[in-house]
Amino acid sequence: ALGVSSLLKETGMVTYDAGFVNTASCKSAITYIDGDAGILRYRGYPIEQLAEKSSYLEVSYLLIYGELPTATELAAFEDRIRRHTMLHEDLKAFFNGFPRDAHPMPVLSSAVSALSTFYQDSLDIHDQEQIDLSTVRLLAKLPTIAAYAHKKSVGQPFLYPDNSLSLTENFLRMSFGFPAEPYELDPTIVKALDLLLILHADHEQNCSTSTVRLVGSSQANLYASVSSGIHALSGPLHGGANQAVLEMLGRIQNADYDVKTFMDKVKNKEDGVRLMGFGHRVYKNYDPRAAIIKKTADEIIAKLGGDDEMLDIAKGLEEIALNDDYFIERKLYPNVDFYTGLIYKAMGFPTKMFTVLFALGRAPGWIAQWREMMEDPETKIGRPRQVYVGATERDYQEIGSR
Ligand code: ACO
Repeated sequence: ALGVSSLLKETGMVTYDAGFVNTASCKSAITYIDGDAGILRYRGYPIEQLAEKSSYLEVSYLLIYGELPTATELAAFEDRIRRHTMLHEDLKAFFNGFPRDAHPMPVLSSAVSALSTFYQDSLDIHDQEQIDLSTVRLLAKLPTIAAYAHKKSVGQPFLYPDNSLSLTENFLRMSFGFPAEPYELDPTIVKALDLLLILHADHEQNCSTSTVRLVGSSQANLYASVSSGIHALSGPLHGGANQAVLEMLGRIQNADYDVKTFMDKVKNKEDGVRLMGFGHRVYKNYDPRAAIIKKTADEIIAKLGGDDEMLDIAKGLEEIALNDDYFIERKLYPNVDFYTGLIYKAMGFPTKMFTVLFALGRAPGWIAQWREMMEDPETKIGRPRQVYVGATERDYQEIGSR
């Protein structure tokens, strides 16, 4: 007797769902979202509680292994990660091959892709120990790669990781410190960055995560799959929105447009202009991450002396949008990216690094989802169907008679 999937194939029926608006591609026990109620939970824990009480590596452990770690488990996990933060010297040489003004997202993705050439001893996707090793290597090396992408773009020397520091502290020091000079960590920045990483850590089957799963469904290794996810994240409709929001606020601040003219353009859909950082495929109510971030943006900018004027423009746009029928009817609310850029800017990161910071945060989610897919006996290679709308059969014509 045929199995269910063979029987379904026999019917020859194909459903067309552009953008997979209503199609589930997998079963998952990692992240729960109720878009109407504005609920987000990792492994059952509300994002608000994790944001208040947890740390980025604890959340990573939760997403990847399914449970909150005990103190001993967390210490062992953190210690293991610390031991893998260095990059192979030859991999460091890669950064010199890119143009100085290269965007750090393709640099990040290329370096992650290259990990599968440097760490060939952990590529067996059927060996749990090797999967664990790749997991730790990826989580540990991503901040180093991201910091080097930044250092390269500003023409400053790379720093080796200092493994007495936490992952977040280490990343900040490697991004902003100088070799042989003490670097003073600002606890406000460390805490805020850790929070932002937690808020980005997973978001079920978004574009980049679906990419990681699709690539991984061919049994491609973790580095190859995550490298593809980084490219998917780079687009302005996804993770690239945090950079696009700041550029949009900058244009308004520089008086290229006033707020009203800009909003009219958005509503008239002139030149495809959208209010970046607004709208979400799943949230049709406030994005719960945006609510947490808005509060942090206020605190951080007050404390670090960030760009108050831009924050005011952002608040002004939000105020207009929340009271405007165009946005109300379409259920468009601020998403996670609306305020993050302002915080990253106040921390000292250049605009081009914003989406890289998103990628750092999303890494544990990508890894957890890749692993869940690999462990699921129902996983099949991702291979969507299509509705063919092209020419019917026709005969080849010799080039001279076309
Ligand atoms: N500004 C203005 N209009 C918008 C916006 C926006 N930001 N977002 C959606 N709309 C409008 C659309 O034009 C459409 O209008 P219509 O019904 O008159 O044609 C309607 O709202 C529905 O929009 P869709 O594009 O069909 O919604 P979809 O679910 O496909 O897109 C998306 C979601 C991509 C997030 C969209 O809202 C958008 O482009 N937002 C701006 C980019 C952004 O902030 N992306 C970050 C998303 S969150 C993340 O990745 C972390």
